[in-house]
Amino acid sequence: MKPLQPAQKIVIASHNPGKVREIGDLLRPLGLEAVSAAELNLPEPVEDGDTFEANAIIKARAAAEGSGLPALADDSGLCIDALDGAPGIHSARWGGPDKDFDMAMRRVHEELQQAGATTPQQRKAHFVCVLALAWPDGETETFRGEVHGHITWPPRGEKGFGYDPVFVPEGFDITFAEMEPEKKHAMSHRAHAFDKLLAALRTAQRQG
Ligand code: IMP
Repeated sequence: MKPLQPAQKIVIASHNPGKVREIGDLLRPLGLEAVSAAELNLPEPVEDGDTFEANAIIKARAAAEGSGLPALADDSGLCIDALDGAPGIHSARWGGPDKDFDMAMRRVHEELQQAGATTPQQRKAHFVCVLALAWPDGETETFRGEVHGHITWPPRGEKGFGYDPVFVPEGFDITFAEMEPEKKHAMSHRAHAFDKLLAALRTAQRQG
């Protein structure tokens, strides 16, 4: 991987200000300056890939080509074994236009019941986060993080977002939405993907 030198600007290919801030904080110790795709008026590409990697790459490449700067994008979701990996890359879409995750979680539960999956063992699931880093010359690297657990019902907890109230991580008996955010953030799919990205960036900076 090519090194990113300190003071290098890097585009965060997201129009979500919370995500841009969070990623900017993580990159600052490496001396990298994060700018958002929204600040640069970059359009949002159509995410029509059929894997997390493909969609993260579509977003990162579009931002790198549109800005002439290295760009970082993420794609994430929940995969349930008994549902053949659904909702997977469609995790956000299951919430509908109103981002109604009570509805999405109910759908998960109903589909699991239809599949006859009632025990934690039969309700295994994992969150996935893929980060893609793209350079304007087309070079692209991806980093995948996962956290494994099972789906519970009814939903429990007020912290977190999305599917957190029905996800119980392995080794715990509370959901992600009942867990202190610092604890979730330290063990999440996103944390694992970022650890891999930061390790690769540090190695490249040392070697470059
Ligand atoms: P993205 O923003 O296109 O990556 O969509 C990710 C979707 O997956 C979100 O809308 C959430 O529904 C779900 N998701 C991803 N990460 C988490 C998490 O940490 N907790 C709960 N839901 C998540």
